[in-house]
Amino acid sequence: MKVLLAVGGGIAAYKSAELARLLMQQGHQVQVVMTAAAEEFVRPLTFAALTGRKVLTNLFAIESAIQHIAVAQENELLVIAPATADLMAKLAHGLADDILTTLYLAFTGPVLLAPAMNVNMWQHPATQANLATLVKRGHTIVEPGSGYLACGMTGPGRLADPEIIAAAIAATVESSAHPRRDLEGETVLITAGPTQEPLDPVRYISNRSSGKMGYALAEAARARGARVILVSGPVHLPPPHGVEVVAVRTAAEMREQVMQHLPAAGIVIKAAAVADFHLSKVPEQKVKKTAARISLELDPTPDILAELGRKKGDFLLVGFAAETQNLEQESRRKLESKNCDMVVGNLVGANDLGFESDENEVVLTLRTGETIAVPRASKRDIADRIFDEVLKLRLALHATDGR
Ligand code: CTP
Repeated sequence: MKVLLAVGGGIAAYKSAELARLLMQQGHQVQVVMTAAAEEFVRPLTFAALTGRKVLTNLFAIESAIQHIAVAQENELLVIAPATADLMAKLAHGLADDILTTLYLAFTGPVLLAPAMNVNMWQHPATQANLATLVKRGHTIVEPGSGYLACGMTGPGRLADPEIIAAAIAATVESSAHPRRDLEGETVLITAGPTQEPLDPVRYISNRSSGKMGYALAEAARARGARVILVSGPVHLPPPHGVEVVAVRTAAEMREQVMQHLPAAGIVIKAAAVADFHLSKVPEQKVKKTAARISLELDPTPDILAELGRKKGDFLLVGFAAETQNLEQESRRKLESKNCDMVVGNLVGANDLGFESDENEVVLTLRTGETIAVPRASKRDIADRIFDEVLKLRLALHATDGR
């Protein structure tokens, strides 16, 4: 995302350098703009070095008379940190006497403010009235923290930690991407990642699933307002913000957790790559390489998706099919044999998509007989597309069989 980071003139301006670094690390493009007062605290060169972009400081030094309008238009989020008492007053009243305030008026996207000032200045009715105006305008406020302030006083006024501001930015980015909270009130149960089936205390059979598709689905559902329960096999991914993660290892553990959480769920998505076979009696001790050759006798794991399909109550069931060939036929066969409402099919092995990739390309096979090809996109975008189609499908199924 293209972020305009506006730095006000307060001692906390130095913390905005850390914020700029965090935003860059998270993959955002950051354009810093500073007030003249901010330049008294931190030199623009610091921000230029961190962001790789020239810092905008003077309205009259920019290249053309309308450049500030172009800057306001090409950025997607405006973050004002620290927002001083003076700056908040100017913004509340629409003054535009420098580059920062002019950009603010020209900017039409979401705005986030992280105020920082002396405790008395923060608590002053004038500042609180300006704050109320800015909140009413729909801006997000990252409340200042309490503690020892540079002025020697203690109380609220300290700029929130850069990590907290960055998390608020991530949440604002999410909600601006999803102004429709169309999964509000829903509980979505998602499985993700591989399972590991032990062969002995130190070895296991598994597969190449990274869990990225299932985690992207969990993030998308959460951003659209759902309560999300994510039953996850072992993966190297951070738990998505606001999602209830249930960590499992084997297919049997995954089955148990899915069944336990099923009664709460209205939508169940089985993105996990469950191992199809396991060793039903795992040796208690490590197997030694004494024999020249050994063979493994494996038994099938419980087919969780098929069991869900047999139960089929009020929930909408989505399965996955990872295939190396005949994607559409295999998806349709799985939809029917496992009694799903939708199967998300993706070709694996043939290209650089699927598994560890951040992108995917899928075919959605629906119970209504329809097939929808979703072209290559990020797993997150694919996740959103899946939820778009799940919601449409549910309406269509309600209309036809009154479920
Ligand atoms: N699945 C499951 N439990 C299993 C195996 C698979 O819930 N023990 C689910 C997966 O989560 C996925 C779907 O079934 O949603 C498809 O997995 P796949 O292994 O391709 O299904 P199979 O029926 O085993 O297909 P195949 O005939 O290709 O082996």
